[in-house]
Amino acid sequence: MLTQQHTHTNYYLQLEDQFGAHNYHPIPVVLERGEGVFLWDVEGKRYYDFLSGYSAVNQGHCHPRIIQALTTQAQKLTLTSRAFHNNLLGEYAKFITHYFGYDKVLPMNTGVEGGETAIKLARRWAYVKKGIEANKAKIIFAEGNFWGRTLAAISSSTDPSSYKQFGPFMPGFDLVPYNDTVALEKAFQDKNVAAFMIEPIQGEAGVVIPDEGYLQKVRALCTEYNVLFIADEIQTGLARTGKMLACDHENVRPDILILGKALSGGVLPVSAVLADDHIMMNIHPGEHGSTYGGNPLACAVAMEALTVLKEEKMAENAEAMGALLRTELQKINSPFIKTIRGKGLLNAIVINHGNKEAAWDLCITLKEKGLLAKPTHGDKIRFAPPLLITADQIRECATIIKEALATL
Ligand SMILES: Cc1ncc(COP(=O)(O)O)c(C=O)c1O
Repeated sequence: MLTQQHTHTNYYLQLEDQFGAHNYHPIPVVLERGEGVFLWDVEGKRYYDFLSGYSAVNQGHCHPRIIQALTTQAQKLTLTSRAFHNNLLGEYAKFITHYFGYDKVLPMNTGVEGGETAIKLARRWAYVKKGIEANKAKIIFAEGNFWGRTLAAISSSTDPSSYKQFGPFMPGFDLVPYNDTVALEKAFQDKNVAAFMIEPIQGEAGVVIPDEGYLQKVRALCTEYNVLFIADEIQTGLARTGKMLACDHENVRPDILILGKALSGGVLPVSAVLADDHIMMNIHPGEHGSTYGGNPLACAVAMEALTVLKEEKMAENAEAMGALLRTELQKINSPFIKTIRGKGLLNAIVINHGNKEAAWDLCITLKEKGLLAKPTHGDKIRFAPPLLITADQIRECATIIKEALATL
């Protein structure tokens, strides 16, 4: 227990360092409050949030309607487990399946559990429906993928910092290069392929956007070879890229859709897997689940978080503000920016500098100037503010970024 009000950043940094595992390398800022696009640290300094909790806080920090849904439900009922029914799970299931146009939803908590669930559904479908011999089903992933930190997730990873010295790994996983449908079709020659699981835009890899038409071609190949198309929209979904789903940019409907992060607006871990009956109904009572999955608190929050996205036209704003942000970044014309890319408000710049620490140093300078961002894979910095950001705020942030780049 804290016995007095601590206002010094170093106090909190030291506490975490001493008592917490060192499995992250955060920017040295200690936050205590958030509202909309802003965060405040323990010393009272205000920042623009350009990470949005890795796109969990699309609706903005502490969105009043989401917090209202949370607190109202929290005073009534929070958890029953699935041993019993609760009066919100059915309402939520109806709401989210209508919202995205699928027969059924399977509720989980974290994003990575959503991925695990999708893979179990695909494997089960492969044995029951496709007729693949027992224990032979294969799931194909794209190189550069990121879908979490469980043993299954790291078993599909091509990033040594994810998988090194954590083996042995999950069998039945194969890789193809991202954005390469020739390689994908070759992989599909194997009759044991059950599913192809991809991010429509690779987020953690540094906002890697495939060629236009890639998702459509993936959809066509999956249909032709009777392979399930699993879209991991945990980071790209829920209005972030300027459409409700990134797959909507190409009018593509995945067989299995995984959602997480902003499904709760950053309030608590809520994930969901959506699919039609011919996939979902192969799992029977006792074969999959989670204590917290489908809890009434999560159901209430998710319905409000999804409603807010639509009613506040966040996809439309993401589209417009993303275009403005990229235009403003282009205007900076810095020799240290190698690439500016993105869709909607999921953007990244790639830093080109002799110093390997330049992206980190830039993020430290941005912090000092009142904007929070974090490098990924050394030289890439994601710019992904909450989706309610305004044009004036985008311009102010572009000025901050310009000034920070000038110090490199
Ligand atoms: C595309 C994608 N899938 C899955 C995950 C895992 O989500 P979680 O951290 O909630 O388990 C992430 C997290 O960053 C992600 O970006």
